[in-house]
Amino acid sequence: MGARIGVIGLGRIGSCHARNLLAMDGVDSLVVNDADARRTSDVATELDVEFAADPDALFASGVDGVLIAASSSSHADLIEASVRRGIPTFCEKPVADSIESSVRVLEAVEQTSVPVQIGFQRRFDPSFVAAYEAVRSGQLGWIHTLRSTTLDPAPPPISYIEHSGGIFRDCSIHDFDIVRWVSGREVTTVYATGSNQGDRAIANAGDIDTAATVLTFDGGTIAVVSNTRYNGRGHDCRLEVLGSRDSVAAGLDDRLPLRSLDPGISFPSKEPYTFFMDRFTSAYRAELEAFLGVIAGRRESPCTPADAVESAWISEVATYSLRQGRPVAIAEVKDLFLHNKNEAHT
Ligand SMILES: NC(=O)c1ccc[n+]([C@@H]2O[C@H](COP(=O)([O-])OP(=O)(O)OC[C@H]3O[C@@H](n4cnc5c(N)ncnc54)[C@H](O)[C@@H]3O)[C@@H](O)[C@H]2O)c1
Repeated sequence: MGARIGVIGLGRIGSCHARNLLAMDGVDSLVVNDADARRTSDVATELDVEFAADPDALFASGVDGVLIAASSSSHADLIEASVRRGIPTFCEKPVADSIESSVRVLEAVEQTSVPVQIGFQRRFDPSFVAAYEAVRSGQLGWIHTLRSTTLDPAPPPISYIEHSGGIFRDCSIHDFDIVRWVSGREVTTVYATGSNQGDRAIANAGDIDTAATVLTFDGGTIAVVSNTRYNGRGHDCRLEVLGSRDSVAAGLDDRLPLRSLDPGISFPSKEPYTFFMDRFTSAYRAELEAFLGVIAGRRESPCTPADAVESAWISEVATYSLRQGRPVAIAEVKDLFLHNKNEAHT
């Protein structure tokens, strides 16, 4: 007997997840909802699945699990509502669009035993998994540097950017999660910089289109994270793990959007990736297979809200560092947050 899954949010990623779920042996039926009623009925008709008029109706429709892929600003309320009803929940990153809401969600989830998985799909990509295992095997020696790159060919619609929480919370958070997961270490200090040379609407929304972040980990490893919304040659997503004995890379395949100018070098030889959905096709499926295992109680959540909130802290500190123009310790911003929270309660 397969699972009945509810999908909330049917935009770029939600409709992709819905299609993937529908093709899985472990799924019997889907019920879908989007805040845009037209989109709800269009997707329901196209996939030939049931739809619900709103998230409450979806929660009440006998689902075994809920997948939230609505805009980031709705994640916190939807996760809490789903968990309150005891429904195993998968939510796209980020947990919430602010650190206050992220911490609130984490506290709410941790008061229950309802499993929640956050969608950091790089943890399911074979090359990133191999990087994780190479570090664990000790074959790289000690890790001096990680370099994580996520360069998008073109910005998402401005309406998306306005609700995304900014490039560090929306895009760099994938890099922050993966360097933390692969290294197995915690970040202590963050130094971020950024700029705007593209569409002024991004700056007007209070965001930047290009960012670089230097992270220092406990133990001394340094990570350099690079992001842009304007990488004309294609979608470039890579991780380099450089150690005292050996170095490895994930994402250094023939579709890498980078032209070598060295004589006689034909790598990379294929058409570059142009869209993150093409790059991570198998990882998006694998994370949902994992979620079906979580629903069935066969495994624990492979990416918990606690993990995701730790990456959210790094995003928060990066945003703060950019504004302050200086390196900032994670502890400084956590202390500031706790102080403000306590002040608010007195
Ligand atoms: N893991 C990844 O690689 C990845 C990739 C893209 C997006 N995302 C995340 O997925 C989420 C959606 O991104 P997208 O690119 O699909 O955005 P999108 O703008 O294409 O789609 C969002 C959809 O959510 C709907 N929506 C908004 N609020 C809602 C609510 N309260 N209830 C129901 N529906 C609601 C909108 O009408 C829209 O159809 C974002 O949080 C984003 O950070 C993750």
